[in-house]
Amino acid sequence: MRTQVAIVGAGPAGLLLGALLHKHGIANVIVEQRSADYVLGRVRAGVLEQVTVDLLDEAGAGARLHAEGLVDDGFVLAFGGQVHRINLFERTGKRVVVYGQTEVTRDLMTARAEAGLQTVYAADDVAVHGFDGDRPFVTWRQGGAEKRLDCDWIAGCDGFHGVCRASVPAGAIRTFEKVYPFGWLGILADVKPISHEIVYANHERGFALASLRSPTRSRYYVQCPLSDKPEDWSDEAFWAEFRVRLPAPLAEKLVTGPSFEKSVAPLRSFVAEPMRFGRLFLAGDAAHIVPPTGAKGLNLAAGDVGLLSRALAEHYLEKRDAALDDYSRRALARVWKAERFSWWFTSMMHRFPDNGEFGARMQLAELDYLMSSSAAQTAVAENYVGLPL
Ligand code: FAD
Ligand code: DHB
Repeated sequence: MRTQVAIVGAGPAGLLLGALLHKHGIANVIVEQRSADYVLGRVRAGVLEQVTVDLLDEAGAGARLHAEGLVDDGFVLAFGGQVHRINLFERTGKRVVVYGQTEVTRDLMTARAEAGLQTVYAADDVAVHGFDGDRPFVTWRQGGAEKRLDCDWIAGCDGFHGVCRASVPAGAIRTFEKVYPFGWLGILADVKPISHEIVYANHERGFALASLRSPTRSRYYVQCPLSDKPEDWSDEAFWAEFRVRLPAPLAEKLVTGPSFEKSVAPLRSFVAEPMRFGRLFLAGDAAHIVPPTGAKGLNLAAGDVGLLSRALAEHYLEKRDAALDDYSRRALARVWKAERFSWWFTSMMHRFPDNGEFGARMQLAELDYLMSSSAAQTAVAENYVGLPL
């Protein structure tokens, strides 16, 4: 088998890259280790920035998102009993769209199937080869048979635990990491959301986040110890803890019901530099992780593949490699800004076991500074709605 761009991983980064390349007439094949159903079953992000919406439109996969996505002009910060609002639209002229990552993935899968593009699911032992030379290729096993895909370029869109970054010689890559001493327990439930705008709550018992997937489906989270397992938390225990962490006016609106998804996610900041190794590019979680506060992970992945698809289009259509040569630098410049914002927002909103009462007062002082400074609110709003490509 031969193609122009071999894409490893069919998460949002891989699927969006494939769709964007196809629009430029660039052939691509995706090789994914899991089944399509498994990929669709992973509940993750929910907030799309304008740049991501624009790229999904460019990819021809934006129709349902425009019909069903919920547009938000702002978000809410709750501290103890107090409620504050950051007005995104007034400060930046931009909004965000609440639309689940599973739906983005589904729309991209549907568009890919309709365009007749090849995706190999359930590929075992995926490996990348020859990217330091002129003839890269990808191999895997399926049904007992060895498979090989020759290509011009490999796009490593295989997430944090993928094989692409791990295949780069240790001396050629630098990594930067911070692991936070807590996780997020998240649930999905078919109950009316407490707010159509996302609520980030700082409480002495820990952080809570109220998000949604539709007018009848809520996505709620609480900060929890890293050792907690979803099965440690009954629905009753979750609702009680979540309610306590909300300010009274919002707690009064809480509707509870059975959850149908429950998972614990660790919080991590991670960056790998550079994002190109010869004919291998990294994009999305394969290259960087942000803690979820601020909802940047999926949007950064989309930004990476937006840059990469344009650079590959210049290579094939205009025979120029300047953008390919500049991909890593441009992507990392956006990544580090989002890393800073996500780290700052995480630091301001969570209970840190080692920071004590001084840490809690610093968070209040940070809030006071933010809400009394128009410039600071504008800066936060600009970061939240995302950077241009
Ligand atoms: P992924 O979605 O991880 O996709 C990578 C794909 O590669 C997967 O399908 C995987 O199966 C495949 N793969 C892995 N290894 C191989 C291999 N060896 N060979 C072939 N294929 C392989 N972001 C937010 O903005 N808000 C959130 O609320 C939020 N919640 C999250 C919760 C969890 C539990 C996690 C893990 C992430 C969350 N994120 C959130 C981050 C966001 O979901 C990611 O940033 C986004 O999924 C990145 O997309 P990606 O395509 O780069 O990687
Ligand atoms: C969601 C997740 C986030 O990390 C966030 O900051 C906002 C919303 C969500 O899952 O809807």
